[in-house]
Amino acid sequence: MTTPAPRIAVVPGDGIGAEVLEQGCRVLQALAPDLVLESFDFGADRYLRDGTTLPDETLERWRSEYAAIYLGALGDPRVPSNVHARDILLGSRFKLDLFINLRPVQLLDARRCPLKDRGPEDVDMIVFRENTEGLYTGIGGQFKRGTPDEVAIEAEMNTRKGVERIIRAAFEYAVAHGRREVLMSDKSNAMRHGHDLWQRVFKEVAAEYPGIRTRHLFVDVLAMEMVRAPQTLDVIVTNNLFGDIVTDLGAVLQGGLGLAGSANLHPGRVSLFEPVHGSAPDIAGKGIANPMAAILTAGMMLSFLGRPALEARIRGAVRACLEADLVTPELGGRLSTAQAGQAVLERLE
Ligand code: NAD
Ligand code: IPM
Ligand code: MN
Repeated sequence: MTTPAPRIAVVPGDGIGAEVLEQGCRVLQALAPDLVLESFDFGADRYLRDGTTLPDETLERWRSEYAAIYLGALGDPRVPSNVHARDILLGSRFKLDLFINLRPVQLLDARRCPLKDRGPEDVDMIVFRENTEGLYTGIGGQFKRGTPDEVAIEAEMNTRKGVERIIRAAFEYAVAHGRREVLMSDKSNAMRHGHDLWQRVFKEVAAEYPGIRTRHLFVDVLAMEMVRAPQTLDVIVTNNLFGDIVTDLGAVLQGGLGLAGSANLHPGRVSLFEPVHGSAPDIAGKGIANPMAAILTAGMMLSFLGRPALEARIRGAVRACLEADLVTPELGGRLSTAQAGQAVLERLE
């Protein structure tokens, strides 16, 4: 009996999202020709055309019929409210319950790191960002909007279940991947309710993993340590907003947003893979966006599909391009998006 070919829902999205995903799909087709890539037209153009963001019925199909979702980026200056991006991106994360946002910070080429005298052995950490609660749920409200007395409240939601499962995922990863330490980062010195919960749950879960060292840093200090002493950081677990912020910082340690991939996971279920960067309206349509983050993200997806050897080939090819200066303009090169994709393709062996 043959197993059915895995189906991948491809959502190019807005701006450079579509440009970089085209290159990621070329690499996927070369390495895993059995994958069935099916494109979905969701993004700003579609929203402006007919008001569609992400239909529940599509989400249901993704849940039951697809192995993974591969997404470019969402965000368009013509939709200042960002409603379509929230519906599609946050909607997928929340409704598919993709509670792990896994964001590796791994330097491939020492020359791409903005820190003095740091190499790949110094910048090798992975962030477990909570992805379904925190400050992202939209709980809150506005009162007397547009008046001098107006009030705006954005509530941070932290549930014991939500905090526990992301912390546990970080420890499980550490065990499975031979990592030494899990560091939890919060702001419990100022946020006495939610982050006190993080403190207590972290200690409880850590007690179940005596072989893994634990550490805590307030998030302001974590930001400093990522720059001052990245070699001391290993597995990091934090909440939704802090994880968002520190992974843009982490992206720069690897050489920029053009090199940072990410996965939105719920073990055992359909998961979503996207670069850390956004739609970059400042360079969209120019054909100069770096496709490497999207290509590395495709590699993460292949590992998730049980093909880690293919991810290793992608990482090797991207490293070879970086070392040979086969890069797009933001890294000082002259290649177009398509040429950079081609350069990676040619070095996959
Ligand atoms: P951004 O990540 O799009 O861009 C930040 C800067 O990095 C820009 O100068 C951009 O040119 C550069 N950059 C990003 N990716 C690059 C690449 N692959 N190659 C070369 N340069 C790259 O962040 P932003 O400008 O704050 O956001 C633009 C839009 O994207 C907003 O609407 C935002 O909400 C959205 N956004 C979406 C996602 C997502 O869909 N996952 C992530 C972040 C931001
Ligand atoms: C990301 C993005 C999103 C986030 C935005 C577009 C809502 O910045 O994926 O990092 O904050 O999660
Ligand atoms: Mn972000």
